[in-house]
Amino acid sequence: MIRILICGALGKMGANLLELLQGDTEACAVCGVDSAAPESLILPESSESAQATAWTHGVPVYKTFAEVAEAVDVVIDFSAPAVLGDLLGFAEERGIGAVLATTGYTEADLAKIEAASARIPVFRTANFSIGITLLMRLVREAAAFLGKDYDIEVIERHHNKKKDAPSGTALMLAESARSAFDGEKPFVFGREGMVGARGEEIGIHAVRGGTIVGEHEVMFAGEDEVITVTHSARSKRVFAVGAIRAAKFLVGKPAGKYDMNDILE
Ligand SMILES: NC(=O)c1ccc[n+]([C@@H]2O[C@H](COP(=O)([O-])OP(=O)(O)OC[C@H]3O[C@@H](n4cnc5c(N)ncnc54)[C@H](O)[C@@H]3O)[C@@H](O)[C@H]2O)c1
Repeated sequence: MIRILICGALGKMGANLLELLQGDTEACAVCGVDSAAPESLILPESSESAQATAWTHGVPVYKTFAEVAEAVDVVIDFSAPAVLGDLLGFAEERGIGAVLATTGYTEADLAKIEAASARIPVFRTANFSIGITLLMRLVREAAAFLGKDYDIEVIERHHNKKKDAPSGTALMLAESARSAFDGEKPFVFGREGMVGARGEEIGIHAVRGGTIVGEHEVMFAGEDEVITVTHSARSKRVFAVGAIRAAKFLVGKPAGKYDMNDILE
């Protein structure tokens, strides 16, 4: 049985993962870490083990990685960029892999991930759905086929609680389109005021409202015609399924960087 630690266990994605793992025959959740959990109790008779004061879906949830005593084979993270350093430190100390699903990383965070991947296996994607993995390939092919005469805009829509904008998936799709032009096209995030005629850019736009799970559209607008490719996630479950699949894939892999393409190929 693969033993998984879930970082962000008390969040929406944490709940999806824990529910799915309850019915899994190959992997199980052994504990969680979440900054919303109260401090653990340090038992007077033992200086080594801390007693979690939060439980969800039958697993203990600790406030920090320092409190985790359980044996763990792999970490899945759906939380926030702030915990990245502690998470990678824990995974390196234990010599286990990390599945990073959190979005909104800075350049400095990405450099930390790059460095860690020289020592442990790290699986990172801003979107665990197979549909988005396919969409990225289609977008690259469409951009290469249509060429510079077609203006490219990426529009994403998410629920009103989403913290980062644009979504990590929108950035991945824009990168896919840009890769067809040797990385030449700059990104323009939203537009406002007297911006003048459109240039060579790829426009990226974030819409927020209600309970929208996640919608991504890439538009190629040319002379007298518009082509759009879209993906709509109907529930968060699709991401949890992909992340568990990634965790199982990562156990026993050598140090390095992995993403959805590694699973699908
Ligand atoms: N890669 C994907 O396919 C995918 C899919 C969905 C969501 N996400 C990303 O996953 C993240 C979480 O999404 P969610 O919808 O579950 O959000 P959420 O707000 O419901 O849950 C996040 C949880 O992380 C916890 N947390 C925040 N900061 C923390 C820290 N420093 N240390 C430990 N725990 C911390 C919060 O207390 C909360 O319980 C977001 O970044 C979101 O964009 C990625």
